[in-house]
Amino acid sequence: MTSNQKTLELGFIGAGKIAHGLSRAFSRAGCLVKAVSSRSTESAGSLAAAIPGCKACSTPQEVADTCDLVFITTTDQAIGVVAREVNWKPGQMVVHTSGADSADVLEPAAGNRALTGVFHPLQTIASINPAPDIFAGSTITIEAGEPLLQTLKDLAISLRAKPVEISGNARVLYHASAVFISNYTVTLANIASSLWQTFGYSRNEALNALLPLLEGTVSNLQNQGLPGSLTGPVSRGDTPTISKHIKELAEVNSLTLETYRLLGLNALEVALEKGSITPVQAKEITGLFADKERANEKNNA
Ligand SMILES: NC(=O)c1ccc[n+]([C@@H]2O[C@H](COP(=O)([O-])OP(=O)(O)OC[C@H]3O[C@@H](n4cnc5c(N)ncnc54)[C@H](OP(=O)(O)O)[C@@H]3O)[C@@H](O)[C@H]2O)c1
Repeated sequence: MTSNQKTLELGFIGAGKIAHGLSRAFSRAGCLVKAVSSRSTESAGSLAAAIPGCKACSTPQEVADTCDLVFITTTDQAIGVVAREVNWKPGQMVVHTSGADSADVLEPAAGNRALTGVFHPLQTIASINPAPDIFAGSTITIEAGEPLLQTLKDLAISLRAKPVEISGNARVLYHASAVFISNYTVTLANIASSLWQTFGYSRNEALNALLPLLEGTVSNLQNQGLPGSLTGPVSRGDTPTISKHIKELAEVNSLTLETYRLLGLNALEVALEKGSITPVQAKEITGLFADKERANEKNNA
């Protein structure tokens, strides 16, 4: 962190999960988090109480008037509303932390000649009490022009995160990638755990049994990368096992079967790249999935 950032006064509009995480991490890194406002005074008060030297403000305008760099950390839908309702100063810095939106949503602030950008932590925060070093080792993606760009990179580094530039027009697919790896892992955990209910275990019991397997998978991804981490029946070209899965999943839930089928087709590409199955085996497995699709079509007709 440069001496310039030490004196930079940071503010937050929207005191939810990401604001709590970022303000705490910035404060621990020696940055001055000076002011916060939110839709409710309770949320702003709770964040201010956790950060030494931080004041709870009753309006977003007060935060903007007090701070050099303002983080709009509201829900995505409210970012543009806040950007419009504040009277920004020329040269003031304003960023949002949404993954999918570009800096264009801050156009009303840019219209007031404020410097606008995006500062998106590629991390998941599910409560207002995340680990204080939650961003250490994470990537933070940034969209901004200079001089704001360098300021945001330095701030990311002060959190021991890795700044990566992502342009505005790439942000939707970038965010879809985050949804796949994070939100859909949770969704897969739900599907996998729910299957245990068919043989008498609760979803939580199942989750406890499955979590070490997920941890092992993450560890493989860290150590072996892609495509080397893929194991299991698709990777082995084990058509009898896949046939049995398809037959029994069809009796459980058609959405679960469809998910199995589509992910299986994606797994085939990984297995082929890994070289653990031949193109002939891949064709045979593709046929199994396609057969099931035809069977579903027949059932629905
Ligand atoms: N959570 C994550 O894992 C994560 C990760 C990366 C990026 N983000 C991004 O960070 C941003 C915030 O997400 P979050 O998860 O922190 O959401 P959140 O926990 O739901 O917090 C949103 C906060 O915004 C406040 N708010 C809503 N409308 C407002 C308005 N018009 N004016 C002022 N404050 C308003 C809410 O106020 P009250 O509490 O006062 O009602 C709430 O505290 C989003 O852009 C999200 O995409 C989230």
